[in-house]
Amino acid sequence: MSKIQGQRVCGPNLGTYSFDEFDEKKQELARLKEQATSFWEQEKAVLVAHGIQECCNILDLACGPGVVTRKIKSLVPDSHVTGVDLNESLLQVAINDSQQDGCETPTFRKADCTNLPFEASSFDFVYARFLFQHLSTPVTAVAEIKRVLKPGGRVLIVDVDDRDLDVTPACSSFEQLTRAAGVFQTEGGGNRHVGRTLDGLLKSHHFANVNRQVEVMSSEQIGLESFFRMTTQFKIEQLPEDLAAEMRELLPEMRRQLASVNATISAGIHVASGLAC
Ligand SMILES: C[S@@+](CC[C@H](N)C(=O)[O-])C[C@H]1O[C@@H](n2cnc3c(N)ncnc32)[C@H](O)[C@@H]1O
Repeated sequence: MSKIQGQRVCGPNLGTYSFDEFDEKKQELARLKEQATSFWEQEKAVLVAHGIQECCNILDLACGPGVVTRKIKSLVPDSHVTGVDLNESLLQVAINDSQQDGCETPTFRKADCTNLPFEASSFDFVYARFLFQHLSTPVTAVAEIKRVLKPGGRVLIVDVDDRDLDVTPACSSFEQLTRAAGVFQTEGGGNRHVGRTLDGLLKSHHFANVNRQVEVMSSEQIGLESFFRMTTQFKIEQLPEDLAAEMRELLPEMRRQLASVNATISAGIHVASGLAC
């Protein structure tokens, strides 16, 4: 996000997420990697339940640093797995990390999810993880997914809905930050309530067997500090500078409050799937 008159604006077609504009890139990369590994067993079960399998052509759309792409390749090594993203820095991380794996690796390439460089009917399975909340025209991305899926191929979209982000007992400064981040993301064209819309989006593009469920992840699984860092603290960097400074000042008190009441943070992640026909 370039900082124009106190606002942060992402690059062309990157929606409301631009890795290159984070001031603390190392920290953000570590967060993306932690988010991709901490709940992998739960995520793997979701992928399997939704039909990911061997000998398929699989697309990880907006793969970021490719951690999940590589995990998918390990899960179904006889499948061809491609990760695409519009951000070159993250793609380079994905390529470097996968070269170090020293075994069968996914293919990574630059692509815009609203204009994919693939023939129609190329993939058996398309996965989009934490992408849709950042898109101002999610319908264009869904249409592209539909186009590149083979008939009978499946899409699986995983994303947030802040209605299902909860802290117990309540913490006013946490809620203030969550609200500010949601408002700012909406102003940038994104949607932190996208989760509840995902099944409707798929139905409107005539996917069959559409379903949506909510997977709950909680700080009880990985500890309050890790969960807070992964789901909440990074949002400060995405705020306009004056608001970010205000929120940064609230952080120590927020942490103290959360720890003193032994709070639990939980996030309901919406999981929607459908069959192309
Ligand atoms: C929050 S990150 C999620 C990355 C990855 N899926 C994960 O879960 O770790 C959102 C990703 O969407 C990518 N992105 C945003 N707009 C895009 C577009 N139009 N086409 C492709 N990727 C895009 C960003 O570069 C970023 O890597």
